[in-house]
Amino acid sequence: MISVSDLCVNFETPSEVVEVLKGLDFSVEEGAASAVVGPSGSGKTTLLNVLGALLPPTSGSVVIGGEDIAKMNEKEAARFRNQELGFVFQQHHLLPQLTVMENVLTPRLAGGWSESEDETRKRASELLERVGLGQRLNHRPGELSGGEKQRAAVARALINQPRVVLADEPTGALDGESGTKVADLLLEIQKENGVTLVVVTHDLSLAERVGGVFDLGK
Ligand SMILES: Nc1ncnc2c1ncn2[C@@H]1O[C@H](COP(=O)(O)OP(=O)(O)OP(=O)(O)O)[C@@H](O)[C@H]1O
Ligand SMILES: [Mg+2]
Repeated sequence: MISVSDLCVNFETPSEVVEVLKGLDFSVEEGAASAVVGPSGSGKTTLLNVLGALLPPTSGSVVIGGEDIAKMNEKEAARFRNQELGFVFQQHHLLPQLTVMENVLTPRLAGGWSESEDETRKRASELLERVGLGQRLNHRPGELSGGEKQRAAVARALINQPRVVLADEPTGALDGESGTKVADLLLEIQKENGVTLVVVTHDLSLAERVGGVFDLGK
């Protein structure tokens, strides 16, 4: 499903070129899960951004579901992100003026949906229930705790029933119990829906649960 070969990512700053990923090979089979670990600054978020078609690689090939990310134009990348991918960012990026429910429904705004809005709302409620936010549907992000925001962001990433879910430290801001809830949800969705899952984490117990551990520090 995901096949990355000889991936290089450089960042050009005014004073130097920072080589973050140097000839990386990484793959995940369809429906499988992989945990990406490594020290801070080793390039975990960078790798996830490349997989999510948010950052064009400097060189190398990145194929997801038969599509070469590196060759997509803006429009193709936008469609791919909306319809094939669920992305949980390291910062939650919820829109402050919208309620929790409205935030979860935002991926719909891009259009191209075959189901009715009622069906999507029902799934949104179920997802929010599963992350423990059933009582918070009409709250705004400013009225949520850090962990609740992160859980809402996970529900938003899953609303499109994506084939691939990329999550950057999804439990980083959560305590043990809510972290477990989010991890449970991601792993259940992976198994139930055959989703291909990549989770970046510092949490070694989560990495072991996810399996397929890929260490960028080595
Ligand atoms: N836009 C950029 N310009 C220059 N350097 C960058 C840029 N983005 C990231 N870097 C550098 O690339 C390296 C990898 O960054 P990245 O965010 O991928 O690390 P990470 O493994 O996710 O770290 P953390 O665990 O702290 O989130 C860092 O040293 C960072 O300073
Ligand atoms: Mg990071």
